[in-house]
Amino acid sequence: MSETIVKVYVNFQAPKNLMPRDLNSKPLRSKTWWTGKEYYNFSRRAWLRSEGFTADVFQDRPVIGICNSWSELNNCNAHLKSVAEAVKRGVWRAGGFPLEFPTISLGEMFMKPTSMLFRNLMSMDVEESIRANPIDGVVLLCGCDKTTPAQIMGAASADIPAIVVTGGPMLSGQWRNRKLGAGTDGRKLFDLYRTGKLTDGELCEIEGGLARSAGHCTVMGTASTMASVAEALGMTLPGCAAIPAPDSRRLTIAELSGQRIVDMVWEDLKPSDIMTREAIENAIAVNMAIGGSTNAVVHLLAIAGRLGIDLKLDEFDRISTRTPCIVNVKPSGEYLMEDLFEAGGVPVVMKEILPLLHADAITANGRTIRENVEGAECWNRDVIRAADNPLSPEGGTVVLTGNLAPRGAVIKQTAASPHLLQHRGPAYVFESYKQMHEVIDSPDLPVTKDTVLVMKGCGPKGAPGFPEWGQIPMPKVLLDQGIHDMVRISDARMSGTSFGTVVLHVAPESAAPGPLAAVETGDEVELDTAGRRLTLHVPQEEIERRMAARPVAPPHYDRGYGWMFLQHVNQADEGCDFDFLRKK
Ligand code: FES
Repeated sequence: MSETIVKVYVNFQAPKNLMPRDLNSKPLRSKTWWTGKEYYNFSRRAWLRSEGFTADVFQDRPVIGICNSWSELNNCNAHLKSVAEAVKRGVWRAGGFPLEFPTISLGEMFMKPTSMLFRNLMSMDVEESIRANPIDGVVLLCGCDKTTPAQIMGAASADIPAIVVTGGPMLSGQWRNRKLGAGTDGRKLFDLYRTGKLTDGELCEIEGGLARSAGHCTVMGTASTMASVAEALGMTLPGCAAIPAPDSRRLTIAELSGQRIVDMVWEDLKPSDIMTREAIENAIAVNMAIGGSTNAVVHLLAIAGRLGIDLKLDEFDRISTRTPCIVNVKPSGEYLMEDLFEAGGVPVVMKEILPLLHADAITANGRTIRENVEGAECWNRDVIRAADNPLSPEGGTVVLTGNLAPRGAVIKQTAASPHLLQHRGPAYVFESYKQMHEVIDSPDLPVTKDTVLVMKGCGPKGAPGFPEWGQIPMPKVLLDQGIHDMVRISDARMSGTSFGTVVLHVAPESAAPGPLAAVETGDEVELDTAGRRLTLHVPQEEIERRMAARPVAPPHYDRGYGWMFLQHVNQADEGCDFDFLRKK
């Protein structure tokens, strides 16, 4: 891997950073804060010098904001202070002036009811922090699931030069002689504990070894996916996504990114120059090739909306059908992010599917995708398969439509059971997440392996916040029979670390209201993955009668951010952004 990194990085380090600069060629945005003879020009300089800076920092140095989502309430991003220090080294070295600032951070494990409720809030924090301050360019430090899309969305709206440095995956988990993937293996082992196959002591041991360092989850969950998507979009330096968080090369790429952003300012290379429609399509293709999280669909729709790119849900399916899934990382495969890094990382993946990409798309280092990946070499063909020997001939995520999901739904087919991808069975309906939890372990739950579990009230407005409740736990009565998967359908999302035959993001959600609200226990439901259909076998007049008769729940909030969220959030097929944040 090290050779690959050197090759890719040498590409990056070539003459761009040595370009002679015409300091008069581009007026720096920050100068309007410092330069002039008004009282406020003077006082801004004086107040900044209260931090001990010399007057030199006001002399034609681009001010580089380091937008840091570090927080001890977000273990995945808990190392980002040291990453920020490395970025600063690079900025100083390239003749810039780094100023670090905090934003809210969204810790996936801790925030209730769900971190997704706050993604848009963080994006607004990022956008307005950039816009309000004397910043010429920005380095975005992120990691945990929602922090990466939120920062990219905010930077897209602010649209000054920006580069992303993701925090990298944590070390692989370990229990006795087993390697564990945080998230995926934790869920599997917890199911064993639920059925009495693991003791309290063993669970405690696993708890201590599952997440062994800072960094994001080490399977191809949402954080790893969004890091890969950021790289595919061209918003990071090549090779960034998979470097483990504790690896020294994480700091190296941070320093190089700090160095590079200074030149991006002089070149005026903005997010809207990099994240074009072609770049978005590249990111979708890479998401399919890596067996990435279904959450990337929602986030990419939102990012496109910020850029004024009219992206439709069916474009994911169009790209999915032609893109092989080649990355053998959990939950779709066997390995972990550390293995992907050692095999060559995202540059190798992109090189493998290069004929399917817009190879001339420009990236943050000023070079094209083709230039960035042409020197990449694969060091482990079992981790990154060749395109003609894929894990699956199609991408991971499939888009479904039908009378149960008129505006779409998604299923991650590579993490599903093949025998369930075509399935028709009777529904067992949970009216809410709470009700599901109350009965899921009941020994009398009337379900069989053919039952289709349907859960309502888990969408953007219904939950609220579109939580990751979609992987409905397997009923204990079936686990006891040795059955570990069944068809499950909801308007929720699912953690990228999860697995199973799970249909998600049903739109419109039941609270909108969509037809999901009309499903009753005993109705026949059909999942036809090959045909891209999700069907409720109930006559349309009966669906409409039930919809008209359904009780309407009171809103979850009557004030504050929650109220604003309910007023303005759009549905899953539009990315769940606020209507007023999309680019007009
Ligand atoms: Fe942060 Fe998984 S909890 S990435």
